[in-house]
Amino acid sequence: MADYDWRPDQARTSLNRILPEVEKAYSADLQQAPHEWHKFKNRLHREWERLFIYLHQLYGWQYDFFYTLERILKSLVQYWLERPSELKLLDEKREAEPTWFMSENMVGGVLYVDLFSDNLAKLDDHISYFKKLGLTYLHLMPLLAVPKGDNDGGYAVSDYRAINPDIGTMEELSKLAAALREEGISLALDFVFNHTSDQHMWAQKAKSGDPDFMAYYYTYPDRELPDQFQKYLRDIFPTIRKGSFTWCEEMKRWVWTTFNSFQWDLNYSNPEVFRAMAEEMLFLANQGVKVLRLDAVAFIWKRLGTNCENQPEAHTIIRAFNAMTKIVAPCLLFKSEAIVHPDEVIRYIHPDECQLSYNPLLMALLWEALATREVKLLEHSMRNRYRTPAGCTWVNYVRCHDDIGWTFDDQDARNIGLDPVGHRKFLNKFYTGDYPGSFSKGVPFQFNADTGDVRISGTFSSLAGLEDAVEKQDTELIERAIRRINLLRSIQVSIGGIPLLYIGDEWGMLNDYTYLTDPTKVNDSRWVHRSRKRWEAREDLTDQDTLEWRFFHEMVKLFNLRKKLPALRNGGMEVIHTGNSHLFGYIRAFKDQKILIVNNFTEEPQLMETAHLRAWGVKGNVINLLNDVVLPENSNLILDDHRAVWLDISQP
Ligand code: GLC
Repeated sequence: MADYDWRPDQARTSLNRILPEVEKAYSADLQQAPHEWHKFKNRLHREWERLFIYLHQLYGWQYDFFYTLERILKSLVQYWLERPSELKLLDEKREAEPTWFMSENMVGGVLYVDLFSDNLAKLDDHISYFKKLGLTYLHLMPLLAVPKGDNDGGYAVSDYRAINPDIGTMEELSKLAAALREEGISLALDFVFNHTSDQHMWAQKAKSGDPDFMAYYYTYPDRELPDQFQKYLRDIFPTIRKGSFTWCEEMKRWVWTTFNSFQWDLNYSNPEVFRAMAEEMLFLANQGVKVLRLDAVAFIWKRLGTNCENQPEAHTIIRAFNAMTKIVAPCLLFKSEAIVHPDEVIRYIHPDECQLSYNPLLMALLWEALATREVKLLEHSMRNRYRTPAGCTWVNYVRCHDDIGWTFDDQDARNIGLDPVGHRKFLNKFYTGDYPGSFSKGVPFQFNADTGDVRISGTFSSLAGLEDAVEKQDTELIERAIRRINLLRSIQVSIGGIPLLYIGDEWGMLNDYTYLTDPTKVNDSRWVHRSRKRWEAREDLTDQDTLEWRFFHEMVKLFNLRKKLPALRNGGMEVIHTGNSHLFGYIRAFKDQKILIVNNFTEEPQLMETAHLRAWGVKGNVINLLNDVVLPENSNLILDDHRAVWLDISQP
């Protein structure tokens, strides 16, 4: 007989004990909205059991666990009371339609407010630009208060409730969220919850010796434990510093700092940290944020003798946050940022955890296939690793603000006859332009002399050959680079998931080397692809002879086409055998609509034979939806230099 699980009963009992007390404490407020309160309680009763179980797993062994439960329930009620009524209405709408974000209408963009429009107030003026592009999702890169100077591009937060004053105010953010909502655009923000800046009030109090706040971080009086941990940890920014611990002179203690020495890892084994960060999260949700990008999820739990990445408790913490949002702010989604092995990336994706996740594997393998002109690794990996749990989907990107790391699985590479170590070396050489015939102008990021590892910085266009071609003033090479870019875009938009455009790429932004003259940026080559939007260049985008015009219109065309094709909504994707190792093909289908998509990763024309086409459902004349050209019955498909086709193979 299975062991009796006492937890559901205990969960109910605890709730029955705590809730009346909380209701008493907030009775004046609750009496004002009895109907709403009833709905809240329904959600609470629905989610409480799992929240209890997660919290028990994390903190049940601590003598004051009941106090933790009480405080968390109070926080839930408090943040629900503070939640604006328009957002509560939206919560109800989203609950009735929980997979709204799977729609073919979802198209995302991401930008740095200061680099795009200087500040939040001016961003408002560009909503029409987002509409012109067709965006329905907008991710603003970190914009909360941070120390001046090096703050890791905003990822060292010193106050989760204040906007960086150079960028604006919290009130402006809420207003912007509402304005975007009016236009059908969902606002996404980062939730940098693995660490705070060493200037955060909690860190300051810790530095002053306050034991309650010292317990917010991992601090050690000597090297004994740090040395034991360190044996298994990897260096994330090896060119900046070695090791994951920083000496704090004020405290006279070592502090755990996975990333930069000024980013102090939070100690989630302390339930106060969990509660405090949950409150920061609910506060942001109440400003109208619809998607929180959970930053650096892999690192949030430490365990001696492991590499302290992807620990089971990291999942439990996120699930507990998820249960809290389902109670207070059910329209909020989580997007996981786990740039780790693909086996681990997928584990963060679940309706009870992160409904969305970056897809670093697709991103890396698109670049891999572009360099090798072979689609074997891409095809093999996507066939086995694309599926996500129901009700969840990928966020597909080609470039973002970070570097590119070659995160494919070693065994996947071996299965198709590649030596993974040698292959990564090749890719690094290729993308830093250090390989004969390379078209790429990438910049090395974080070369690790001990392991030989390196990652790649650079913009989409510079990596794809445009910078090199423009420098050489070679029109043929320019056209080829454009085709490469369009090829990756067409896959990003059609393969299934939310396509996320790194704003600037819609104009073919090239590397910007001015970071080399800024002492706060010079050691971080990621700034080569984080540049100011050159509005003065082509704001009206009317001059059809410019590259900017061509890139922009191709992007808009693809987004618009996607929105007309329900088959491209996020869901199933079947990788097919094209019978040609240079052609990557897949089928997208929804209800009656079926689309066969084939992409040529070489400069030469490539052929997919009729027999293969027929095997995948091509019958009679079929139309290429990208240009309305008909592929006549019984003919081979011939794809030119880096071309794609989206063949409509729906049966009448
Ligand atoms: C994430 C961010 C990256 C940052 C790191 C530390 O990986 O994307 O830019 O450096 O977290 O916060």
